[in-house]
Amino acid sequence: MKVAVLYGGVSGEREVSLTSGKGMIEALEERGHEVVAIDFHPDRADELLTLQADVVVSALHGKYGEDGRVQSLLEMAGLPYTGSGVLASALAMDKARAKIIFAAAGIRIARDVLIETGDDIDVKIVEWGGEFPCVVKPAQEGSSNGLTIAMDEAMLREGIDKAFACDTAVLVEQYIKGRELTVPVLGNHGTEAALPVIEIIPKNEFYDYESKYSEGGSIHVCPAELPDALTEEVQTAAIKAHRALGCSGYSRSDFLVSEDGLAYILETNTLPGMTPLSLFPDSARAVGISYGELLERFIELALE
Ligand code: DAL
Ligand code: MG
Repeated sequence: MKVAVLYGGVSGEREVSLTSGKGMIEALEERGHEVVAIDFHPDRADELLTLQADVVVSALHGKYGEDGRVQSLLEMAGLPYTGSGVLASALAMDKARAKIIFAAAGIRIARDVLIETGDDIDVKIVEWGGEFPCVVKPAQEGSSNGLTIAMDEAMLREGIDKAFACDTAVLVEQYIKGRELTVPVLGNHGTEAALPVIEIIPKNEFYDYESKYSEGGSIHVCPAELPDALTEEVQTAAIKAHRALGCSGYSRSDFLVSEDGLAYILETNTLPGMTPLSLFPDSARAVGISYGELLERFIELALE
């Protein structure tokens, strides 16, 4: 099959995407596919559209790649592609709007205050109500880029400035102290199934960029050692989140479980990391699906 792999791109997660892409390119070539790899910027759209690829495999993460814009280009060109469509991608990329949908679907979310360009930050800080620590993050970034855990109001203000440096919307969120879990979901509408839950134990105090992408930066326990009821709860919530956003193919939802055992969804990633250290392939391996087989499954789902 002729497969175009899109990777790299222009988002803050470019480096992660280059690594995800390299892994995918190698595995697809090993499996005998004709692979054309494109470090994807808008000026390479013509090249992509004239390739006559059978399918487009996206290893893009973050803005432009994971947020519906590239998906829209592919839709207009009539090219099948892996992962979610335009609407689900755009909704999932916007953590603030995604949380409204999660709450409507009955999935527990952390309390937050959204600050958008033009808002009065003093008013928003009063609205937040002085709960510390709190998490400050850009609404549309990934990989913990631009994220701060604020211990007091001064740090909160600094965190807001830092997050605004990479986005036009910032979320101030309740800090949930507890265990970090992630749940991959595989399938199209009606056939979605959750893969084993992974617990992430970061070396640093929290699962930041360094813990995510450096060798030994975190330990993945898969399947996570949890009470059966909690495993079932987060797997069900991940499928609900995938469906509520209208995802297709695959997604990975991230959760925090508070010390009193309540699971909160943080976000759904529509193009989760596929680097050799990444979570989705780890979880698939635990049920006997190799990295290459997983990519074939993504392609089958794209062509359904
Ligand atoms: N946003 C990164 C790639 C992830 O969630 O895996
Ligand atoms: Mg993410």
